[in-house]
Amino acid sequence: MTLPAPPRAAVFGSPPPDLVDTPEGAVQLSPLRPGAAAIEGIAEASLESIVLLAPPGAVERRFTLAHALRALRPGGRLVALAPKDRGGARLNAELTAFGCTVAERFKARHRICEAERPQLLSGVEAALAEGAPRFIEGLGLWSQPGIFSFDRIDPGSALLLETLPGLKGHGADLGAGLGVLARGILGSPAVASLALVEIDRRAVEAARRNVEDERARFHWGDARETDLAGLDFVVTNPPFHAEGAEDRGLGQGFIRAAARMLSRGGTLHLVANRHLPYESVLREAFRTVDTTAESGGYKIFEARK
Ligand SMILES: C[S@@+](CC[C@H](N)C(=O)[O-])C[C@H]1O[C@@H](n2cnc3c(N)ncnc32)[C@H](O)[C@@H]1O
Repeated sequence: MTLPAPPRAAVFGSPPPDLVDTPEGAVQLSPLRPGAAAIEGIAEASLESIVLLAPPGAVERRFTLAHALRALRPGGRLVALAPKDRGGARLNAELTAFGCTVAERFKARHRICEAERPQLLSGVEAALAEGAPRFIEGLGLWSQPGIFSFDRIDPGSALLLETLPGLKGHGADLGAGLGVLARGILGSPAVASLALVEIDRRAVEAARRNVEDERARFHWGDARETDLAGLDFVVTNPPFHAEGAEDRGLGQGFIRAAARMLSRGGTLHLVANRHLPYESVLREAFRTVDTTAESGGYKIFEARK
């Protein structure tokens, strides 16, 4: 049997095709793409080229750039770009600090940096350590920079946890993150199973460590596309950002997906920022909708199928 050839080219995220070319057959490395390879697992000095839409968070971005340079062979080509106001302004300096000589251009509000991987890299180990998974003492949980609310409990999730009734039967936590809500839900002995669905691989890996319970199942995937069905409850603090930009349709998609997953009489427990337009979608998809709490700019909805 012949093993598949190791990848020669990689892409991280979705660099706009009108700004940069992505080589055909490039392997996807973003943790936000279910099924993608992990950039951390790419062999040292094995790639010819990487095209990378750099993430907005500084620690996460330096971690990703450092991994990309580590994975490229000396002389291999890195194209890294980001919107000017979401990390682009710092890209050149960050790559220069790693030892790269950078050629830079601007287009469509993006800064686009091209560099060859130098023979000698500097500061890469520190960036890899700074962005790596770690145990956050104050939180008592495993986490990693780049994951949603990576070192503190989101106030919306805290309110949902405070107000959640004792749940029972089979359920799902959509957009489960580090497993903050899942840990609360599984505090009820009447819960028979809980599917944690999450699109960020790093969060799924952290949640596996944070939620040690045989009733938990972990799904790295898009909550709007799972085949979960016949559930008694769904709990969610849905996202309203996709790759840095506000996307209200995402939460609405979560609500419709929850309605598909629930049995008749099953309940959705949802927290949302008060300004988000979820009520009409809830009323379309569910028989009854109640606001059970409102505090600090958040609303808790309980919707029955
Ligand atoms: C507001 S956060 C809530 C996280 C966690 N439940 C908590 O309470 O801390 C929303 C989560 O949804 C995840 N997410 C975003 N889009 C998703 C999608 N299409 N499918 C599944 N999860 C998604 C994000 O990565 C993020 O972890």
